Order: sequence, then structure tokens, then C-alpha cells
Amino acid sequence: MVDNIKNDCAYLVVGGDSLVGEGLLYALEERGHRAYSTTRRIDTLNSRRVKLDFERFEEFIPPSDVDLIFVVAAATNYERCEKDPLAHKINVELIPRFVEAQLQHGLFVVFISTNSVFGGERPWPAEDDPHSPGIPYALQKSEAEAAMRASAVKLGAENRLAIVRLTKILDPNTSPLPNWFSAWSKGEVIEPFEDLIFAPMSVQYVGRALSILGEKRISGNLHLSGADNVSYVKFAQSLSNAVSASSALIAPTSSIQKGINIAFKPTYSGLGMARTTNLSGVLPQTLESVISDLLAARQFK
Ligand SMILES: NC(=O)c1ccc[n+]([C@@H]2O[C@H](COP(=O)([O-])OP(=O)(O)OC[C@H]3O[C@@H](n4cnc5c(N)ncnc54)[C@H](OP(=O)(O)O)[C@@H]3O)[C@@H](O)[C@H]2O)c1
Repeated sequence: MVDNIKNDCAYLVVGGDSLVGEGLLYALEERGHRAYSTTRRIDTLNSRRVKLDFERFEEFIPPSDVDLIFVVAAATNYERCEKDPLAHKINVELIPRFVEAQLQHGLFVVFISTNSVFGGERPWPAEDDPHSPGIPYALQKSEAEAAMRASAVKLGAENRLAIVRLTKILDPNTSPLPNWFSAWSKGEVIEPFEDLIFAPMSVQYVGRALSILGEKRISGNLHLSGADNVSYVKFAQSLSNAVSASSALIAPTSSIQKGINIAFKPTYSGLGMARTTNLSGVLPQTLESVISDLLAARQFK
């Protein structure tokens, strides 16, 4: 780990238009940093938005003042990861190759990964625990992590690679929240699943926490997690309390009852954060804080 906090250099967010990327860019700028992002949308390029598309081979040279890159972009759709060989190629070959090139150029790289690499059957897995991925997306992320770690070892750059795994991230537009808010405003009932467990975090928390991890240049495996494993029913109840919607507007059901096949259905979703908290001071996000951030973000929509 490099101890000193560097504030004089710029950050690059690869995948700046993603949910996580937008939250991270907002937090970096709010904390006074210069931040660039990459996009594939060429009609939106400007001095702070540079083009990068992993699907088209191109030599990518980051802006010269950048010394830390957050690799947020990925092929994230579960079904695409299962069926499209290009998604596998992006996640397992092209992104690790990009990371190796940046490490070779002396940059610090923060790669964003996922709780799903642990498979979801062990409570609160620690940062350095072994993986047990169950779905193709998780397997691809796990393989990408291994490839990057191998590159860092080969280049003697282990102190410039961080792998940050995240649990589920919410903003007011994340499904099924828009439908829930809309139903409650019309006095209609929602049907959350009691057999779907998650450890939610707000996009604001993730943006702030990633910024802190980047500022501190903490290397190795790190976790950001909600503090609670909750069902969607429990989450709906907490949210309905916060917006003063009647609990009668919640009719618990399950994905099994509804005949819906959910690809990743963990028993435990939350991640252990002991190493991360010890090195950074960042604590898991409580459910109350997630809901408070969600409602604050809703007021600005
Ligand atoms: N969302 C969650 O709850 C969650 C939970 C755990 C981990 N994660 C991880 O967090 C990261 C961000 O997730 P997200 O949900 O915020 O992502 P997202 O909204 O699905 O966006 C994915 C991003 O990747 C970019 N991208 C995809 N293919 C690309 C390619 N070939 N070349 C360049 N860019 C490409 C997309 O660019 P365009 O904007 O141009 O389409 C987009 O910015 C991912 O690594 C994901 O695995 C997310």
C-alpha cells in the first residue's frame, strides 16, 4: 500500500456513463479532483470525455495528467455474458489486456468487480477469500481478476493494482424502484420477492467510497458492501416507512411463486469489509443510509 494521499493528479473513469461511473465522477469532482471519463458515444466527446471502445482495437493513451484509472466498464448483462462470446472476450481478455498496458505505463489501476465471484453461499466473505463463481458473469469477473493479478506480479506492480468488489448498487432509477414509487403514488400494491436477498448500497456511497480508496492508493483486494443482507420484502418495508406509504401496499411474494428464473440468487449477498475498513476507514453502508441517499437523489430527479 502507498500511504501518501495524492491530490495533484487527475483520475480517469473508464465507463463514465455507467451507473457506478456517473456516481464516481460526481464524487471525484465534488472532492475537488480533476476527472476524465471514457465513452463509446462519439457525439458526446469533449476535453473531459475521451473515446474508448474495447470492442474495437485501438491504442489508448490516457490524458497525460492522469495517474489513476478506475476500470468500471464491463459487459455486465448476465444473459449476454452467458450467450455472447464477445462479452466473454471483453471481460476476460480485452479488459485485462488494457489493465496490463496501463500498469506497464506506471499508472495505478482500480478494477471494479462483484460480490458474485463468491457464489453467494458463504456469509460475509473476506477480501482475500477464495472464489466460487456460479454464473458466467461471475466466472468472467473472477478470471479477469486472476489475469490482472498475474500481470501485476509479472510487472512488479502489485502495489499499483486494486480490485474492488461491490454488492448491489441502487439509485432511484434502478429496477424495481420506479415501479414501486409509481404504484405507491397511485395507492397500488407492490409485490416484492422474499426469496431474493441483497446487501444494497447507494450510488452516492459507492462514489464517495471509491474516491477515498483511490485517493489513498490502497492496493490489493477491497470490498464495498451494504451492512445488511435483506430480502426485497424487508427493503420495501423500510422504504415504505421512509416515504410514509402504507404497509398494506406491500404484498410479499417470491420469484418461485411468480415463475421467474433469477440467474443470481444468493443466500448471502453482503461482503466482509474488515481489511477495507482497516486501511481506509470506510464502513459498510447501513440500510437507513441507503434509503436516505435514495430519497435525497429522488428530490433532484
Ligand atoms: N450495478 C451494480 O449493482 C453492480 C454490482 C456489483 C458490481 N458491479 C460492477 O460495476 C461496474 C459498473 O456496473 P454498472 O451497473 O454501473 O454498469 P452499466 O451501467 O451496465 O454500464 C456498463 C458500462 O460499461 C461500458 N462498456 C460496456 N462495453 C464496453 C466496451 N466494449 N467498451 C467500452 N465500454 C464498454 C458501457 O459503455 P456505454 O455507456 O457506452 O454503453 C457502460 O458505461 C461493472 O464492472 C460491474 O460488474 C455493478
